[in-house]
Amino acid sequence: MKVLVTGGAGYIGSHTTLCLLENGHDVVVFDNLVNSSPESVQRVEELSGKKVDFRRGDLLNAHAIDSVFAECGIDAVIHFAGLKAVGESVENPLKYYRNNVIGTLNLLDSMEKSGVRRLVFSSSATVYGAAEHVPLSESLPLDATNPYGRTKEQIEDILSDLSAADPRWSITLLRYFNPAGAHESGRIGEHPQGRPNNLVPFIAQVAVGRRDKVLVFGSDYPTPDGTGIRDYIHVMDLAAGHLAALQYTGNKTGTFRWNLGTGRGSSVLEVIQAFSAAAGRSIPYEFVPRRPGDAARSYADATAALEHLGWSAQRDLAKMCEDHWRWQSSNPFGFATEN
Ligand code: NAD
Ligand code: UFG
Repeated sequence: MKVLVTGGAGYIGSHTTLCLLENGHDVVVFDNLVNSSPESVQRVEELSGKKVDFRRGDLLNAHAIDSVFAECGIDAVIHFAGLKAVGESVENPLKYYRNNVIGTLNLLDSMEKSGVRRLVFSSSATVYGAAEHVPLSESLPLDATNPYGRTKEQIEDILSDLSAADPRWSITLLRYFNPAGAHESGRIGEHPQGRPNNLVPFIAQVAVGRRDKVLVFGSDYPTPDGTGIRDYIHVMDLAAGHLAALQYTGNKTGTFRWNLGTGRGSSVLEVIQAFSAAAGRSIPYEFVPRRPGDAARSYADATAALEHLGWSAQRDLAKMCEDHWRWQSSNPFGFATEN
């Protein structure tokens, strides 16, 4: 099968591209590199020994995405391309609605024109908002609490409406929990630009000496150690989840929704401890006030993906930290050569 991977130069997209190539698929990557490096695509080629048809382009340019469908003979699309920084989305909501929602509409128009109606979309556990009825199951009402999350919610609605209106569409909505880790070669991984917003890349930069200490947001949550609990999932398990979804949906049509998480929660202090063990060094941290909008705990009900896709996460927190550390320590500045 030939799969178009939008955002395929990014963190989750590059690992999924590698998995697709290793499983005999051909891949076209479409990415404007706004938050990634072409080096990731080269390293995926090096790891797989296969060529990626890389097209640098922006989903906001309708002609650019149209020409991919006209030229490439695409069978299915995995749509990762999007902006993902919650704080930036609060400061600049139009940028997020334009990029994520209009970018997706342009992609759907191109798909419709070329008769490709099979799409897997990167949604997020952020669509559950502040829900605290853990574990979070797919049947919960959606209630995103920030513009980034609302772009995911709106795109989910658009995609569900589309498949309700035209039964030829096959739509898969994958709601990721907290991706972490890297390919075990240490050759590809997450490349945050600027100060990382997320916990694991921040810890990794402290461990490698790029930052002084981890700021732990809140020590007074109603959790066993007072810090926030999340469901960290290895990026290679996520990648495998995309393949399982593509395989399951095969010739099926309609809308499918699955959480991709482990079903287990870890606290901030547990993550720091696990990373410290993986890196073999202590990781300084300091408690600071809670970050506004953060839930005390969020972890997946992961049973639906197991039941339907036969998929479950295989790697634990220790493995995530070990692989993340291998990537971070051998590429202290990610794909760049310096800060
Ligand atoms: P990423 O930033 O590493 O990858 C996204 C890629 O999309 C980047 O390479 C970027 O250059 C590209 N892109 C952005 N806008 C584009 C546009 N208009 N046209 C073409 N390319 C564009 O992020 P990631 O962590 O790999 O996330 C992938 C997807 O998964 C995103 O949609 C994100 O919202 C979603 N997601 C991520 C997380 C997470 O914590 N990493 C959690 C849940 C959902
Ligand atoms: N945290 C810290 N210090 C930091 C960063 C985070 O203590 O420097 C804490 C947070 O308070 C939270 C936990 O670590 O308790 C995880 O925080 P992240 O920012 O890594 O992840 P979130 O769960 O807040 O959000 C992430 C993505 C969202 C996505 C969500 C679910 O940023 O976009 O996971 O997939 F929607």
